[in-house]
Amino acid sequence: MKILIIHGPNLNMLGKREPDIYGAKTLEDINSSLSECAKKIGADVSFFQSNSEGEIVSAIQDAMSEFDGIVINPGAYTHTSVAIRDAILSCGLPVVEVHISNVYKREDFRQKSYVSAVALGVISGFGVNSYFLGLSGLVEHLKNN
Ligand code: DQA
Repeated sequence: MKILIIHGPNLNMLGKREPDIYGAKTLEDINSSLSECAKKIGADVSFFQSNSEGEIVSAIQDAMSEFDGIVINPGAYTHTSVAIRDAILSCGLPVVEVHISNVYKREDFRQKSYVSAVALGVISGFGVNSYFLGLSGLVEHLKNN
């Protein structure tokens, strides 16, 4: 089972970026823990990070032919991107939206997600564990369907 994990804008800055909100782990730390976790649950994960909306749209489109599902943290594009939402709809793969912080506890503008309504599920607020919860939920879903 092949899963693509997409990290959106500014997530390349994890570890340095607002550590009180996003923690001290770098994206590299998170990806290597995710690879280990994936092995244990029978999944094979690949990673993609971009600060560019168009590149994320292309990665979602390209995933169609290669992956069984996607875990995405769309970062700030969560709250603005019709293009990412449309790409998710057109790729037809199950997509889990994850956020490190609880976006519903934060500023009003973070409380609107263009992605949630087209996602299989949403995990928000468990720190970097949101990624692990999202990945295991997606793998479980794929095993059962
Ligand atoms: C985030 C929440 C977004 O509102 C923010 O713009 C991010 C990170 C999170 O993981 O908590 O970049 O997606």
